[in-house]
Order: sequence, then structure tokens, then C-alpha cells
Amino acid sequence: MIRRSFLAIAVLAGLGPCLSAQASDNPRVRLLASTCVTCHGPGGQSLGAVPSLAGQEKAYLQEAMLEQRAGKRETTVMRKYMNGFTPEEIGQLAEYFSKLK
Ligand code: HEC
Repeated sequence: MIRRSFLAIAVLAGLGPCLSAQASDNPRVRLLASTCVTCHGPGGQSLGAVPSLAGQEKAYLQEAMLEQRAGKRETTVMRKYMNGFTPEEIGQLAEYFSKLK
């Protein structure tokens, strides 16, 4: 329920088109990934202190997110954020960002 309304807000806010690169054919994965760019920068390339995601190894991204979710990594926001995703979705997101240049 919460996640559905969050996605609806993301769509209404027009975040979808922010990612011009098409790293996935799956519209759902693209939609999920579009919510990350607010903090991680357009196309996953950070403009500031938040780490860049684009072009990182899939295994690295996936492990980082799973550890954040499990509370094994120090985070400010990512643990709360990752709690909303299933391990399968985390794998899809890791693959998505690993394919961006
Ligand atoms: C509200 C801002 C915000 C959003 C939204 C966000 N992140 Fe993050 N992310 C951060 C911050 C800040 C960090 C550094 C760790 C921390 O303090 O939580 C981080 C760290 C990470 C890391 C670890 C990177 C590294 O090199 O250590 C990954 C992977 C990651 N985020 C993936 C994602 C993905 C995928 C999404 C979208 C589903 C996302 N993040 C959404 C702020 C955000």
C-alpha cells in the first residue's frame, strides 16, 4: 500500500523521464530506478556527496543494498529505503545501474 502510493507520487512528479538511458526493457524496473536519481544523480551519476551508481559492478551494488537492508551497513537513509524492496527487486536495480555508463 505504502509502496504503491510512493510509486504513484514518483510517476506524478515526472521522475520517470529523468533517466534517459534505457538500461532495462522492463518498465517496472525503470520506474523503480527512476526514484533513485533524486539522490544518486541523473542517470545514476552523482553530482555531490551521495555515491554514484552508474557503471558499478552488479555484484557490488547488490551486496551493498542487501547489507543496507539487513542493517549490516551504516546508513543514513538507505536502510529505510531498501526495506521497501524485495531481494529480487534489489537484484534488478543492481543490474540496471551496472548497465548505465
Ligand atoms: C533519499 C536519498 C536516496 C535515495 C532516494 C536513494 N539513495 Fe542510495 N544512497 C543514499 C545515501 C546518502 C547513501 C550513502 C549511505 C547512506 O548514508 O545511507 C546511499 C548509498 C547507496 C548505495 C551504496 C553505494 C556505495 O558505493 O557504497 C547503493 C548501492 C544505493 N545507495 C542504491 C540506491 C538505489 C538503487 C536507490 C533507488 C531504489 C537509491 N539508492 C535511492 C541516498 C539515497
